[in-house]
Amino acid sequence: MLRFKEEVSLKPYNTFGIEAYTKYFYKVTNTSSLKEIVAKNQSLPFRIIGGGSNVLFTENFEGLTLLIANKGIEVLKETTDTVLVEVQAGENWHDFVCWSLDQNYGGIENLALIPGSVGAAPIQNIGAYGVELTSVFKSCKVFNVNTLEEEIIEKKDCEFDYRSSIFKTHQKGNYIITSVCFELQKSPHKIKITYGALKTKFENTRPSIQEVARAVIEIRESKLPDPKILGNSGSFFKNPLISKLHYEKLTKKYLELPYYTSPNGMYKIPAAWLIDQLGFKGTHLGGAAVHEKQALVIVNTGNAKGKDILALANKIQSAVKLAYDIKLELEVNIL
Ligand code: EPU
Repeated sequence: MLRFKEEVSLKPYNTFGIEAYTKYFYKVTNTSSLKEIVAKNQSLPFRIIGGGSNVLFTENFEGLTLLIANKGIEVLKETTDTVLVEVQAGENWHDFVCWSLDQNYGGIENLALIPGSVGAAPIQNIGAYGVELTSVFKSCKVFNVNTLEEEIIEKKDCEFDYRSSIFKTHQKGNYIITSVCFELQKSPHKIKITYGALKTKFENTRPSIQEVARAVIEIRESKLPDPKILGNSGSFFKNPLISKLHYEKLTKKYLELPYYTSPNGMYKIPAAWLIDQLGFKGTHLGGAAVHEKQALVIVNTGNAKGKDILALANKIQSAVKLAYDIKLELEVNIL
């Protein structure tokens, strides 16, 4: 018989450090209990949380919150160049990156220090410093909440895109990711240091994967606030994609407008720049504030309510729309 905890505070389970309560709570440490829980509680609304690094709680929840906390890393197969690793969804992402560096397995060193769990990583196809999860992802095991069966979903069926996948779009709520299979590289590694700050640092050198990870950690620590000290969820908005025409129009007014070209001919504009130009850095609203060092990050200055954070985000969205005619999409899940 599985027992739920009742009236549980979710404050320890979200990196914003927002106070919100869930009527029922269960920590899932093995996947066999998932079927029993979901099957026996069909009438109860439920939610899944992992590392809590991409959610903003704006109200209490009258249903059941399942914290995915199953652990384990297992090497399934090795070839001369690669290794196939299965990682349970409840493992911490950065701990997994550290494990891979200890084994000298390459491919995720640029993704060091991203907060969150391994099971949450495919949902928004986490990415940083020129690498996205999709480049090492092979497949994942999921629990289908409609059929109550376990399934394996291959990479080709995940529809990975910039901060997106089927788990965030048309299959949202249908699957619970229970483990992820990655293909990592053995030495010699394929180092990716084309991203601005890494390129400058490693000009004309060939760093090891451990050195790349150390550099990424250094850059992240210099710009992004540590959620343990100042609640936040990394980038609050996605970088918007605009047409060439729109870009050309804007660049007449904003001569310095930075951009990255996208494979589909669109221009990806750093949302941080757009927000920064409008003078939002350091702006407060209730307990929410725009981070002093990175305009894309909204922080909880102490006692923020989820609604304060959302109100500040909405204010930024309106100002960006007015100034540049760009609709900023949220990266964070509002609950
Ligand atoms: N910029 C500003 N003001 C700021 C911050 C940045 O003008 O306050 C300008 C910078 O000068 C630069 C540009 O904006 O020209 C881009 O900044 P940065 O390289 O710091 O990256 P970003 O576009 O703000 C994205 C990801 C981050 C990821 C970094 C590095 C998104 C939404 N964000 O940020 O991801 O770590 O690139 O790859 O794609 C996250 O998803 O939570 C996250 C932190």
